[in-house]
Amino acid sequence: MEFVGSHILSVDQFDRGSIQRIFDVADDMAPYAHRERITRVLEGAILSNMFFEPSTRTRISFGCAFNMLGGEVRETTEVKASALAKGESLTDTARVLSGYSDVIVMRHPEAGSVGEFASTSRVPVLNAGDGPNEHPTQALLDLYTIRKEMESRGRGMDYLRIALIGDLKYGRAVHSLCKLLALYERVHYKLIAPPELGLQEETIEDLREAGHQVSLHHQMESGIDHVDIVYVTRTQEERFPNQAEADKYRGLFRLNQAIYTQHCEPNTVIMHPLPRDSRAMAQELDDDLIENPNLAIFRQTDNGVLVRMALFALVLDVADQVHNHAKPVTWYTARRFARRD
Ligand code: NCD
Repeated sequence: MEFVGSHILSVDQFDRGSIQRIFDVADDMAPYAHRERITRVLEGAILSNMFFEPSTRTRISFGCAFNMLGGEVRETTEVKASALAKGESLTDTARVLSGYSDVIVMRHPEAGSVGEFASTSRVPVLNAGDGPNEHPTQALLDLYTIRKEMESRGRGMDYLRIALIGDLKYGRAVHSLCKLLALYERVHYKLIAPPELGLQEETIEDLREAGHQVSLHHQMESGIDHVDIVYVTRTQEERFPNQAEADKYRGLFRLNQAIYTQHCEPNTVIMHPLPRDSRAMAQELDDDLIENPNLAIFRQTDNGVLVRMALFALVLDVADQVHNHAKPVTWYTARRFARRD
């Protein structure tokens, strides 16, 4: 695909070649994200970071990624703090904001909203989650993490076996990741969800037609054996028609160290897009896994910065100039980054 000036709205835009390009640029970003060097390649550029739904890591990591390339970030975090609360359309907001910024990142609770917004934007728009639909940058950082984890186990990306657990109906991270993984050879998807919260039939059919194996499970234990990855998700309570409905599923699947030891292969990677719900009634991913070296959740969040830096660099056409503007950091930096290499 052509990156320069493009919107990033859906994982459908990518093929294996474009993913490889993103990952190569992401690898190049490591010294900057790890605070060994700084670059000012985007000095003067402005990002509008528009988050109309709760977010910690996606919003902050997009902002930090832009800052780490030397750019400035403007942020709006609530509908009620924006003119959308006065009845302005998304398309008008886009016409306005694209006059102020070089690139826009947007999260919004409605499926298709970010695409609608992008249709009238004169600058590239990156989808940071449009309701239950898609979360393409999360899927890219998940895939980047999977690639690294597999590499460290001497494995490639083809013939991957992955268990996806939880709310597969409303989970946009899962929707995007399932589609992205389908670009690789013969994936085995083990979908673990209550019948009402399964992955859309249409997606399952598409995966099967593309030659992948999909099996459905209602018990967690029977789905997490013989897989390379367990990808756990939170019940997307905010997307349910009412709280009582969401309460039915809280705490239904809980992965902890004892269950992992009993049912998973010894090197199974544990992932979660985060946030995990740590309230007593939920705990889909128990805190007692924290010492498990296969728990990759905080490697995922670190990798998010690399992948988002890469997307900015590609879309704004500076990927080949990043190192020209580099110099060493001048301040004390703690070694905050998990290294496995
Ligand atoms: C996910 C999201 O917002 O879809 N979070 C994230 O961006 N890392 C998953 C979730 O909220 O459960």
